[in-house]
Amino acid sequence: MAKIIGGIATSHVPAIGAALDNGKTQEPYWQPVFKGYEFAKEWIQQAKPDVVILVYNDHASAFSLELIPTFALGCAAEFPPADEGWGPRPVPVVKGHPELAAHIAQSVILDEFDLTIVNKMAVDHGLTVPLSLVYGQPKEWPCQVIPVAVNVVQYPAPTGNRCYNLGKAIRKAVESYPENLRVMVWGTGGMSHQLQGPRAGLINQPFDNHFLDQIGPHPEKLTRIEHLEYLRESGSEGIEMVMWLVMRGALNENVRVLHRFYHVPASNTAVGHLVLENVG
Ligand code: DHB
Ligand code: FE
Repeated sequence: MAKIIGGIATSHVPAIGAALDNGKTQEPYWQPVFKGYEFAKEWIQQAKPDVVILVYNDHASAFSLELIPTFALGCAAEFPPADEGWGPRPVPVVKGHPELAAHIAQSVILDEFDLTIVNKMAVDHGLTVPLSLVYGQPKEWPCQVIPVAVNVVQYPAPTGNRCYNLGKAIRKAVESYPENLRVMVWGTGGMSHQLQGPRAGLINQPFDNHFLDQIGPHPEKLTRIEHLEYLRESGSEGIEMVMWLVMRGALNENVRVLHRFYHVPASNTAVGHLVLENVG
């Protein structure tokens, strides 16, 4: 049977991708950011997931105001990097896992989570920057990836609780897949940031640190954070953190926090990162 071995949470700041692609990782501004990912880069070599279910949000690259799926499941064999205005990132094409994705679609939809099935989709920095942070700059990505895109761009985004329960449904789906696969779930986005309006640049370190502290042992508490609280406390883009709750919901009740990293700022954003291992 397939099993979920652990999870990774990470911000997905686009400028991190640009720093990597342009050889700037050792510059004083970026060096401490990339240092925070050294643990994950080593750990992933032993953990060796066959498939990563990568929860992220599309930033008006594949979708737009014309089409706003709340939860979209990438079922294609391949996902090209999106052109976000300055050409696609020079990263490998993302290989999907159509069989497992179709199985997840069937399982979660019959479980009453009506995801949108997507058979053609370009993937933007929300998905490729986390892959780059953890895997560096390989010729091919070392795992297959099932993108799960969550709408956190256009109101109304799903609640944290809905995201957490979707994670549980994804876990049930994975655990009923007959092939022996090592699966990991990643939650991306956040932490606090606001890219627009009078509060642009807002960062709330106490809020972020509380979130980092609680998501391992007490995720249910975080599922009760309402949209207005995210908006007030973590800025207009802080709502991206609900995607970490999909990841957390897909893990066991007990997890071990293998690595915790927090750094301010990268671009306009507080960078948070956790490596969680399933216990039991
Ligand atoms: C920034 C951060 C994001 O998460 C994002 O999607 C876009 C921009 C930023 O810090 O600039
Ligand atoms: Fe984002």
